[in-house]
Amino acid sequence: MNYQIKSIEEYKETYKYSIENPEEFWAEIANNFIWHKKWDKVLEWNFTEPKVEWYKGAKLNITENCLDRHLEKLKDKTAIIWEPNNPEEKTRNITYGELHKDVCRFANVLKNNGVKKGDRICIYMPMIPELTVAILACARIGAIHSVVFGGFSSKSIADRIVDAQCSMVITADGVYRGNKLIALKNIVDEALRNCNTIKKVIVYKRIGNNVVMNNETDVWWHDEFEKADKICAAEIMDAEDMLFILYTSGSTGKPKGVVHTIAGYMVFASYTFANVFQYESNEIFFCTADIGWVTGHTYIVYGPLLTGATCLMFEGIPTYPDAGRLWQVVEKHKVNTLYTAPTAIRSLMQAGIEFVNGKNLDTLKKLGSVGEPINEEAWHWYNTNIGKGKCPIVDTWWQTETGGIMISPLAGITPTIPSFAMLPLPGIQLAIVNTQGEELKGNDVSGDLCIKFPWPGILRTTYGNHERCRTNYFATYKNMYYTGDGCIRDINGYYRITGRADDVLKVSGHRIGTAEVENAIDLHHNVIESAVVAFPHNIKGQGIYAFVICSNETKDFEKLKSEITNLVSEEIGSFAKPERIQFVNGLPKTRSGKIMRRILRKIAVGETENLGDTTTLLDPAIVEEICKVIL
Ligand code: PRX
Repeated sequence: MNYQIKSIEEYKETYKYSIENPEEFWAEIANNFIWHKKWDKVLEWNFTEPKVEWYKGAKLNITENCLDRHLEKLKDKTAIIWEPNNPEEKTRNITYGELHKDVCRFANVLKNNGVKKGDRICIYMPMIPELTVAILACARIGAIHSVVFGGFSSKSIADRIVDAQCSMVITADGVYRGNKLIALKNIVDEALRNCNTIKKVIVYKRIGNNVVMNNETDVWWHDEFEKADKICAAEIMDAEDMLFILYTSGSTGKPKGVVHTIAGYMVFASYTFANVFQYESNEIFFCTADIGWVTGHTYIVYGPLLTGATCLMFEGIPTYPDAGRLWQVVEKHKVNTLYTAPTAIRSLMQAGIEFVNGKNLDTLKKLGSVGEPINEEAWHWYNTNIGKGKCPIVDTWWQTETGGIMISPLAGITPTIPSFAMLPLPGIQLAIVNTQGEELKGNDVSGDLCIKFPWPGILRTTYGNHERCRTNYFATYKNMYYTGDGCIRDINGYYRITGRADDVLKVSGHRIGTAEVENAIDLHHNVIESAVVAFPHNIKGQGIYAFVICSNETKDFEKLKSEITNLVSEEIGSFAKPERIQFVNGLPKTRSGKIMRRILRKIAVGETENLGDTTTLLDPAIVEEICKVIL
């Protein structure tokens, strides 16, 4: 069996084989990696506890698979091309040989600063190659990384540090994103006022802004790097040891720490990268995600490096210095594959074709989309103006919990249809179920998207609370992993994701729980209660609409609105700010006290007729009142 599928027939055969013989299939794929010891058993599982173990008994280190094994042939190949925020600043090229050296040396920095196997390390860094170095250095010595997206507030960092009991933070002084300065170190300082587990903070000097160094805990990256030894043998790890924790939002107010383990994640990240993007050895792959989200973990760091690819890492934003930046970066670095989010496509589409015109995009061969449903208009614009009609678009559906791509075309190999994720990858057994939990067989059906059988990249637990993992993903439908997404299988058997079926929002592709935003709003002393829903937003995909009951003392509503938005920025991050706030006297609740969001969602789009059955409401008059304000 070939590692990379090269035709539709081969896809069909491989898929069939993979679901009829999952253990044999995933063992054959795993033979493409280096192991200190092979597994005793390919898979052990049940979805009731749940317990999933891949390649049990195997010993390995993922960084040897990302770096050491490439040194013989790819030592001088560029692993990372780095494009800075400011186009005037120099780009950097880091070869596999150099990356290997930096990772080993920084792994010794971690050791010198007291890090041991199994320790949790919080990483809050800009999109610079040192972020990749920090991640891999953790993996080199068996420490567990917990990367926190640079847009999160100090409060969110603190929550994540406390939950994972991290002993170290790796950060930078600051960074410019567009022309906005983000003072990362100050934000970390603020976070650490509420954490007592952190023993050391390592600070990379990126822009030279003023920072306060605490003599007891804070050290400079460059000082420590100078002192550290160059050689660092890889820690030999068990297949099921934790590789990383990544926090993500669900329907409760508290984000959960999704846990991925080493071997399964490694195999899945690499296999999906090689197949979906059909990576070829001389290509330049550009994923615009931030490494703070799972897309960056899997398709900027692990997937490309495991495959020996050259990956472009971009520090800035697509609209700085103007809306032509992304296209200029593609031209400058002769990018072959561009993997981005629908929000970015929509905002660049709105900026106008003049920003694309004149840029040479001839090197592009493949395009990708991720993170939220892509509307047909954006798909066609991307296809026509960026791909010039010759680049297959892979609309990749997956989640933080799945570790890697689950449903997607294979670029240039399997068919594409606008706004369809199309077909499952080999090894992925999908099920569409109705609300009674019955699997809907055959084509032309819609319902909740579930997965019936484990794949190597599946989450293993939610950090520190396995029961939460069970209730969230494995308790809704018996013996199935529930994704939280709605899905259609059309008459031809192709899959189309229709969006979240729970209280999770996707704002510019960022995953936010309604309860998190409500909790933040409710902290305001003049707020009695709030309810948050999504409304369709033509750039961000979804925007946040908050219905807020405030106290009688409130006089200045505009002031209260801005205080509420500031509060959400402080508690979560500015990406979670409500776009619209409506003050109301009550919320539509059932007699048991549950807010009927279905009604609020309709009101949020101005649909005040046909609100459906409101007879179960405690006080139907409330709905009329809310609607009046809208009208
Ligand atoms: O609702 C789906 C949406 O993003 C959710 C997962 O979010 P997150 O864990 O942040 O991971 C995003 C990057 C993988 C899913 O439950 N989603 C992701 N990709 C798509 C999508 N919705 C539609 N089409 C997609 N291609």
